[in-house]
Amino acid sequence: MNSNVRPDSMERITNFELANKFIDEQVAAVREQVGDKKVLLALSGGVDSSVVAALLIKAIGKQLVCVHVNHGLMRKGESEAVIEMFGKALEANLIYIDATDRYLNLLAGVSDPETKRKIIGKEFIEIFAEEARKLEGIEFLGQGTIYPDILESVKQAEGKKAVKSHHNVGGLPEDLKFELCEPVKLLFKDEVRVVGEALGLPHEMVYRQPFPGPGLGVRCLGAITRDRLHALREADAILREEFANCGLAEKVWQYFVVIPDIKSVGVKDESRYEGWPAIIRAVNTKDAMTATIEEIPYAVLHKIVNRITTEVPGINRVLYDLSPKPTGTIEWE
Ligand code: XMP
Repeated sequence: MNSNVRPDSMERITNFELANKFIDEQVAAVREQVGDKKVLLALSGGVDSSVVAALLIKAIGKQLVCVHVNHGLMRKGESEAVIEMFGKALEANLIYIDATDRYLNLLAGVSDPETKRKIIGKEFIEIFAEEARKLEGIEFLGQGTIYPDILESVKQAEGKKAVKSHHNVGGLPEDLKFELCEPVKLLFKDEVRVVGEALGLPHEMVYRQPFPGPGLGVRCLGAITRDRLHALREADAILREEFANCGLAEKVWQYFVVIPDIKSVGVKDESRYEGWPAIIRAVNTKDAMTATIEEIPYAVLHKIVNRITTEVPGINRVLYDLSPKPTGTIEWE
């Protein structure tokens, strides 16, 4: 599949039969492209890279080397889930790098959102390149490019400005020249999900909500500190758990917590308790260009507020962001 244009004749993959046909074709195409060489893949644990990993494991097994970089800005349990699924269940060749300290040291004191994004993106490429240089015989770079990414880069090449800079593994240093292996690049997201399930990945992994590359880094507003990041991760885990419990997780496009760098006066155990507010965001959208607000039932909100304020150290209030996009963007930074 070398063309970047989806042919009109290409049938939309809506069921396992079509997905299995696609998988067989791609397994054959990847084997032919790669031969006995090795493929390197940055495995974030997101839907696209996970599906590509599962597909490449099926096609070339141990010739695939997955690198999972934990930038310390992952959600609770996320890196562990990648290790469980790919390192253990699928027995992939997985290199796990805990780069938490490296990232948090670089980000200390940096409050500008785009500077934070650039640091996170640049460091990722640096770590990935360091790993790539240590390995021998890698000739290919696997990527979870999907069709909307291709359409988006065409738009940008036509001079339309992006609102925020997103990153992937583009822009590796000159000495690292790989041929790309992008088996799902002509698929839309819904098709990638069907293919993922047909490959045996768990439903929760394949249908998980989108998560930005810079992770919790753009939700811990302003200069990131370890204590506020910890509070954010815990509060976000509670929100996700309660959304899963009441069925909203299946219905809402994106739901998460944001913690700004401000404190307010509160009270706990009859004493003054200065803490951060946790801001809840739950939005629906088709293409992330505009978004509407999900109405969370009051009883669910009440439970979330109760749990976050009692279980998460440092939080004394919970706010619910009712702003659509526009005028808000989905993320706060
Ligand atoms: P915004 O905040 O621009 O978000 O309304 C639209 C969608 O993009 C995601 N997003 C990002 N994804 N890197 C990413 O990979 C980023 O820097 C980034 N910023 C926002 C956001 O989560 C939403 O789904």
